[in-house]
Amino acid sequence: METAMTTTYQLLDGKRCSEALKLEIATAAAKVKAARGRAPHLAAILVGDDGASRTYVEAKVKACEEVGFRSSLIRLPETIAEDELLDRISGLNTDADLDGFIVQLPLPSHIDPERVTLAIDAKKDVDGFHPVNVGNMVLGLPCFLPATPSGICELLKHYSIETAGKQCVVVGRSNIVGTPMAILMSRNAYPGNCTVTVAHSRTKDLASITRQADILIVAIGRPEFITGDMVKDGAVVVDVGIHRIPDSSKKRGFRLVGDVHFEEVAPKSSWITPVPGGVGPMTITSLLLNTLKAASN
Ligand code: GUN
Repeated sequence: METAMTTTYQLLDGKRCSEALKLEIATAAAKVKAARGRAPHLAAILVGDDGASRTYVEAKVKACEEVGFRSSLIRLPETIAEDELLDRISGLNTDADLDGFIVQLPLPSHIDPERVTLAIDAKKDVDGFHPVNVGNMVLGLPCFLPATPSGICELLKHYSIETAGKQCVVVGRSNIVGTPMAILMSRNAYPGNCTVTVAHSRTKDLASITRQADILIVAIGRPEFITGDMVKDGAVVVDVGIHRIPDSSKKRGFRLVGDVHFEEVAPKSSWITPVPGGVGPMTITSLLLNTLKAASN
């Protein structure tokens, strides 16, 4: 007879980990400032007025202030022509006062995100989205790593999670999370050296795949999609999702959940990220690390 094992899980606390990293970044930023006469400087372009994007960009700007970076928020109208946006990008590429910049996604539908990404100088692409950075990442060469997968690696490192020889299942294959995550977890490094499976919307019998995971990383964009029956006992579970679910019992009218059904999955896990306070804060901290790297280059 099969018995359900209940383990005492531990939290992969992204908030705490990111606070610790931010102290180190602040010290390094002060050194850069002393050596170069100016602090590391990150700019963010926000096109339009999407509420979620605005919240993310404002959080990035606030994080810059916390570690003593300079930041610039460049707000552009929803109706901006693609060529005008590309002109603004080429201005930032040659701005010697700026170490790195990002263009917050998604962009309005009349703007081609690939043209925008290609227009950014790879040396200032602290999002790590430019094909030169993606290619260098795949080859294990110096590059800017994309913030979310890089933040997850930092979190696994912080908690000394063993990865070598483990089965890692990544659910989701986006360019900015799932695909780079799979590359990083399979490379010959720490964290890494996993046997990686990438599952996605066309995967057959997903539960039979996720149940094989020693390390399960979920970035599928569906609230509470991974349920208890889909997880192996003792797995390390990393939840990239964040969703607002209407909840009249909450003062603000909603609660936040991830792609993982936390109440069901946590008791089966050895380690699990909370939502919020797991991957989210690590993502922003990785952007700061990339900006520091750009400023130090
Ligand atoms: N939209 C969602 N995530 C990201 C990110 O990491 N960078 C940018 N530029 N836009 C995003």
